[in-house]
Amino acid sequence: MKTKSLKGTMLLAAMLVSFISLAQNRLIINADQGDVRINKHIYGHFAEHLGRSIYGGIWVGPDSDVPNEDGYRKDVMQALINLEIPNLRWPGGCFADEYHWTDGIGDPAERPKMVNTHWGGVIEDNSFGTHEFMNFAKKIGTEPYITGNVGSGSVVEMSKWIEYINFDGVSPMAELRKRNGQAEPWGIKYWGVGNESWGCGGNMTPEYYANEYRRYATYARDYGGNTLYKIAGGANNWDYNWTEVLMKNIPLEMMDGISLHYYTVAGTWENKGKATEFNKEEFLETLRKAALIDELIKRHGTIMDKYDPEKRIGMIIDEWGTWFQVEPGTNPGFLYQQNTMRDAHVAAISLNIFNKNADRVHMANLAQTVNVLQAVILTNDTDMILTPTYHVFDLYKPHKDATLLSHDLKSEEVGFGKEKMEALNVSTSRSADGTVNISIANINPDKKIDLDVVLRGIDAKTVTAEYITAPAINSHNTFENKEVVKKAAFKDFKLNKDNLKISVPANAILMVRVK
Ligand code: AHR
Repeated sequence: MKTKSLKGTMLLAAMLVSFISLAQNRLIINADQGDVRINKHIYGHFAEHLGRSIYGGIWVGPDSDVPNEDGYRKDVMQALINLEIPNLRWPGGCFADEYHWTDGIGDPAERPKMVNTHWGGVIEDNSFGTHEFMNFAKKIGTEPYITGNVGSGSVVEMSKWIEYINFDGVSPMAELRKRNGQAEPWGIKYWGVGNESWGCGGNMTPEYYANEYRRYATYARDYGGNTLYKIAGGANNWDYNWTEVLMKNIPLEMMDGISLHYYTVAGTWENKGKATEFNKEEFLETLRKAALIDELIKRHGTIMDKYDPEKRIGMIIDEWGTWFQVEPGTNPGFLYQQNTMRDAHVAAISLNIFNKNADRVHMANLAQTVNVLQAVILTNDTDMILTPTYHVFDLYKPHKDATLLSHDLKSEEVGFGKEKMEALNVSTSRSADGTVNISIANINPDKKIDLDVVLRGIDAKTVTAEYITAPAINSHNTFENKEVVKKAAFKDFKLNKDNLKISVPANAILMVRVK
């Protein structure tokens, strides 16, 4: 009897193994392994003085009719609090290298006005300056990340800004800060030394910038026990020489991070394509381009490894996201674009890739938070909508500071026209309480995919899941219909011991949590 039941069990096990290996879509997760932490700062954001990002999007001023708290829009503030954003980069972007911080302190009525030459030629009245930014970061519970001006600034200007923000002793800048109402230093940690110095930040050669960096970084002092995390302005896209020259010429102990910028453009820079009107081929082509960031990280990373094999220096992808044509009738310099399920897939794929490379990618910042490029929030005068990209960041919260888990994925492909890609895109991690997090994007717009998950090294008992999906790849939220794309509970899975079957809906992004 005993032998019979043993034989039966073995047969069943053999059938199960062969079924799993036959399964077209299969994910094996090693849940008890992993030693790399997914830095929560990978889920960072970026708000520049550009279009309606700061003015109108975050800051309306205390006298505005828009409901506000000390001048900050209440709706946007609450949405960002809910999103638990780990850091916010400011004031640019290209704007950073034109910005003179002393214009943005003191009595707002006395602050000088300037033209924002980069972005739409509008008047910048400097009503949102250092105090307004630092207070906003505090209110929404995020770490500030400031980029200083190298392009049109000076070493003394940047050095004094850091002194103003961080010094707790007796000094002209500390006194000035106190006179402006802030007694305690803020103790900022993340500091960028210039932005895109190869382009709008001064059109420098890498050799020239490396020397400039050394000068600026020397006077970017630590105060009151606070250690600055200094980020060198890194490469654009495929400019590997920039990374090589910086890594070679900047003493490693002088920097903590080196940035990388990469935007996903559906068409060409001249004809970027519309944010909401595209066919399946263009959809897939956009996602293929988004996924190229993996190769960029690998190649820039290999150069960094040569000089920094311990991977102490972070690759800081402090500008990434989609860049489409502006919405009809809006200022071309304001970079206002809608946000669809396509953007959600770009976010999901990019975040999965950043997680995968978390040993080197220590921070990333989506461009940009409100009303600009791949925004998580869009506003009009008094109203606000959350974009599909917002919901992806919301869905992915469990990955923050979790341990990266290795996995093996076998996925069917999806293809339109010339393009073919794996239909499933996955990231796996383990939270501090042992919960395994599985984020899955199914980029096939038309086909539900049955996925077999093999959970190794976890005695799985419960599964919970949430997802976002929508009828079409260009589905998006509008001020008239705000919840076309939103997060919802997901139930189409079945757990049987270490085997989890998930029916991944077409055009969907899931977060499945197993405990
Ligand atoms: O995010 C918009 C712009 O793109 C930034 O100002 C600049 O750094 C980049 O070229």
